[in-house]
Amino acid sequence: MKHSPAETCELLKADTFGHIERVQAGEAIFIRRDTRSAHWLLRGLARWAARHEARGLERLRGLDGVPQLRHWDGHVLERSYIAGAPMQSAQPRDPHWYRQAHRLIRALRERGLAHNDLAKEPNWLVRDDGTPAVLDFQICWISRRRGGWFRMLVREDLRHLLKHKRTYCPEALTPVERRLLKRRSWLARTWKATGKRVYKYIARRWFGYWDDDGGALSSRRRPQDERGPT
Ligand SMILES: Nc1ncnc2c1ncn2[C@@H]1O[C@H](COP(=O)(O)OP(=O)(O)O)[C@@H](O)[C@H]1O
Ligand SMILES: [Mg+2]
Repeated sequence: MKHSPAETCELLKADTFGHIERVQAGEAIFIRRDTRSAHWLLRGLARWAARHEARGLERLRGLDGVPQLRHWDGHVLERSYIAGAPMQSAQPRDPHWYRQAHRLIRALRERGLAHNDLAKEPNWLVRDDGTPAVLDFQICWISRRRGGWFRMLVREDLRHLLKHKRTYCPEALTPVERRLLKRRSWLARTWKATGKRVYKYIARRWFGYWDDDGGALSSRRRPQDERGPT
């Protein structure tokens, strides 16, 4: 892809899946995911994930609270920039924020999409106007049929939101929400017992990292941050 000479780029994240930068080109500000810098062993997977994200964003076109797809050329994905602070630094404590976030998950569901990566705080933003936004649709589930599997994934999205609420706004948890928090799906239980261990092992041993967001959380780590989806 051509870089226009007027572009200024700020690197936000770089890992074995490539790098993410914020680009200013004239008036436009957007986020670029570039898979060409991915580890060669993972480049195919990185491109698959970026293509999948492009499909997810296509499905969400026009929805408020998610990035808008600008461009996908098979290697580089561009999406609109959303001004705000990631959850781990904004630490949303207003119950209203969680109601809005819940509505956003329902809006994704209406479009046939489960996010699947909402346990990670950097994938949540508190926008400058105080409302929530979600990023990073690389492993979302895009459904044709809204069957039991899809409904379970949406419930998991909600459970991850409630975990964040338990961290930042526990006094506002309702009895129903507390019950939902305890009800982990068989998928989450299996992931925690097996898949997560394998993933951590590979990430640590082979690629030298295990983190929620390339170290973005390391300045304020909670015990439960040592996790993928739980
Ligand atoms: N559209 C966006 N608006 C604002 N910040 C973004 C946007 N997309 C990504 N970011 C920032 O870049 C980080 C990494 O992007 P993300 O899509 O989550 O990549 P990864 O899959 O590597 O986690 C995010 O946690 C966020 O801080
Ligand atoms: Mg992310």
